[in-house]
Amino acid sequence: MEVESYGRVVVMITGCTKGGIGHALARAFAAEGCLVVATSRNVRSMADLENDLRFFLQELDVRSEESVQHALSNVLERFGRIDVLVNNAGVPCIGPVAEVPLSSFQKTFDTNLYGPIRLIQAVVPHMASRKKGKIVNVGSVTALAPGPWSGAYTASKAALHSLSDSLRLELQPFGIDVTTVVPGAIISNIGNSSLASHDEMPEWKLYRHFRSAIRDRATLSQGPNATPGEVFAKKTVEAILKKSPPPWFTYGQFSTIMSIMYHLPLFIRDFILKKAMKC
Ligand SMILES: NC(=O)c1ccc[n+]([C@@H]2O[C@H](COP(=O)([O-])OP(=O)(O)OC[C@H]3O[C@@H](n4cnc5c(N)ncnc54)[C@H](OP(=O)(O)O)[C@@H]3O)[C@@H](O)[C@H]2O)c1
Repeated sequence: MEVESYGRVVVMITGCTKGGIGHALARAFAAEGCLVVATSRNVRSMADLENDLRFFLQELDVRSEESVQHALSNVLERFGRIDVLVNNAGVPCIGPVAEVPLSSFQKTFDTNLYGPIRLIQAVVPHMASRKKGKIVNVGSVTALAPGPWSGAYTASKAALHSLSDSLRLELQPFGIDVTTVVPGAIISNIGNSSLASHDEMPEWKLYRHFRSAIRDRATLSQGPNATPGEVFAKKTVEAILKKSPPPWFTYGQFSTIMSIMYHLPLFIRDFILKKAMKC
C-alpha cells in the first residue's frame, strides 16, 4: 500500500550500517524532513533507526541484481517514487596492484562501480518518467591523487567519478541531476573493514619489506583529525537538497589538499606520495 509522502523528499541510500557515512546521511536527510529508505546488507546493522517513522528499512546487497529489484519494488509500492538515490555503499581494498588477487579487484569493482550502476539502471526509468530526480554517487578524494597500496579501491572510485560525469550529461534531458560526492577522511567503520580485508590477503611476496606501510594505509582515513560523519553528512545533505545541486561536492579532512594535489605535475605528486606512503 502506498503511504502518504506528499511534499516530502523520498531518499534511498545504500550502505547505511551504523557508524558509517550512509547512516549519518540517513539521519541528516531525515533531520531535513525527508522520508529515508535506509538500506544495508543486514537490517540489524541499522536497528537504531527501526522504530522511527522517518525511516523505511530495507535489506539491499548492491552486488545482487535480485536484491536491488526486490528493494526497489518495495520502495515504489510504499512511496510511489524515489526523489534522491545515494550510492554510498563501498568496500576498501588494500594491497599492491601486482599482488592483490584478481578476485579482490573484482569484488571491489562489483561493489563500488557495478553496484551503483545496478541501482542507477533500476531507478532511472522511474525518475525519467517523472522528469525529476537526483542521483548522488559517493566517490573518494583518493582518486584525485592515486597513491600506492590502494590501487584497486582508488581505480574503482576514479571509474565512478568518470561515470558520474557521463551520466550527468546523459540524464540532463530527463531532468535528473547527478552529483559526485567526494569525501575526504571521514570517521566511519572503513578503517576496521579495511584492516579485516587486508588481513585476509595472501602474504606479500615482492612487497614483504613494505608490509607495515601497506597495513598502515588501511587506517589512513581514520586519524585523530578525521572529520566526524555527522558534520560531513550535514554539509552534504545541504548541498544535495538545493534546487540545483552541484555536480561535484567535496568535504572533510584532506579534501582541499587532495584537490590541490590533483593539479600538481605528476613528478611532484609522486615525490609527495612516495614520502607519505613510504614506498
Ligand atoms: N570514510 C572515509 O574516510 C571515506 C573517504 C572517501 C570515500 N568514502 C566512501 O564513503 C562510502 C561509505 O563508506 P564509510 O566510510 O561509511 O565506510 P563503512 O563504514 O565501512 O560503510 C560502508 C557501507 O557499505 C556497505 N556495503 C559494503 N558492501 C556492500 C554491498 N555489497 N551491498 C550493500 N552495502 C554494502 C557496508 O555494509 P556492511 O556493514 O554490511 O559491510 C556499509 O554499510 C564508501 O563508498 C566509501 O568508499 C569513505
